[in-house]
Amino acid sequence: MKRIGVLTSGGDAPGMNAAIRSVTRTAIYNGFEMIGFRRGYEGLLEGDVVPLSVSSVGGIIHRGGTILRTARCERFTKPEGVREGLQRLREYDIDALIVIGGDGSFRGAYELHKLGYPVVGIPGTIDNDMAGTDCTIGFDTACNTALQCIEKLRDTASSHERLFLVEVMGRHAGFLAIEAAVAAGAEFVLIPERKFDLDLLCKKLRYARERGKNHSLIIVAEGVMPASELSAQLKDTGGYDARITVLGHIQRGGSPSSFDAVLASRLGGGAIDALVRGEFGVMVGRTTGRITTSPIQIAWEQTKSLDEDMLSLVDILGI
Ligand code: F6P
Repeated sequence: MKRIGVLTSGGDAPGMNAAIRSVTRTAIYNGFEMIGFRRGYEGLLEGDVVPLSVSSVGGIIHRGGTILRTARCERFTKPEGVREGLQRLREYDIDALIVIGGDGSFRGAYELHKLGYPVVGIPGTIDNDMAGTDCTIGFDTACNTALQCIEKLRDTASSHERLFLVEVMGRHAGFLAIEAAVAAGAEFVLIPERKFDLDLLCKKLRYARERGKNHSLIIVAEGVMPASELSAQLKDTGGYDARITVLGHIQRGGSPSSFDAVLASRLGGGAIDALVRGEFGVMVGRTTGRITTSPIQIAWEQTKSLDEDMLSLVDILGI
């Protein structure tokens, strides 16, 4: 093995640059050449390559986004697209590919692996919805960003004695919502993993008002429903007049937290170590503090479950 390729794919996440830097420098340290593909699988198919060196990945560890840019590539979800990608990799004499992204990106890598091509996945998504790792790159930073925003909203919610609904990302999972809710001391959290009960929510809101609480914050994961829809339901059922904030893509930007920069650096190194050991078709992860590898398909074949303790914690602390 002489030359290794790397790409970032799917939604970007803070810390992806730190992972690119770590992969590149660890590869070069081990005597390999590194090539980056721009715009994920799209760039792979189009041969949009950039050589990566020790210095070209300098000064990026602290930067949000991804210097390789990213895309969601429809063509790579089809067998013809994957075969074309394999052809491009062979044309460029690339002996193995590292894919940094979420489970959708890993599916593409798995298809290459099934054709006998060496791949390793590095989990990067703010959603943290991937088995095989306790944390994905970008999740911690996104939680901190959400926390900062919610703290600001609390100030104005409290001054005006208002009810605020804050919609957070997370796709079909509630990891980001629950983490932000506990950290921000939000009164209620709605996540896709728990059945939503409108009457119970109205009852809790009434009780909070009765015991003298002058404002409330509800965190709603986008996978449950849009905050606008929840607001309409609260108005119809309980007569509540809520203000809405959708945090949106703000959660995907910004410099990585120290946790994410370290996680990305460790996982980047772990991915090259896996290739050196001849472990292909795997994803690297961080499991109870250690860098581990698992079959790449674990990312979507196994559902990562939310910590039940966290769920009851929001209920208990938000009484
Ligand atoms: O998977 C990351 C994520 O930010 C999700 O939380 C969100 O649902 C989705 O991507 C948004 O994707 P896009 O940037 O394509 O709108």
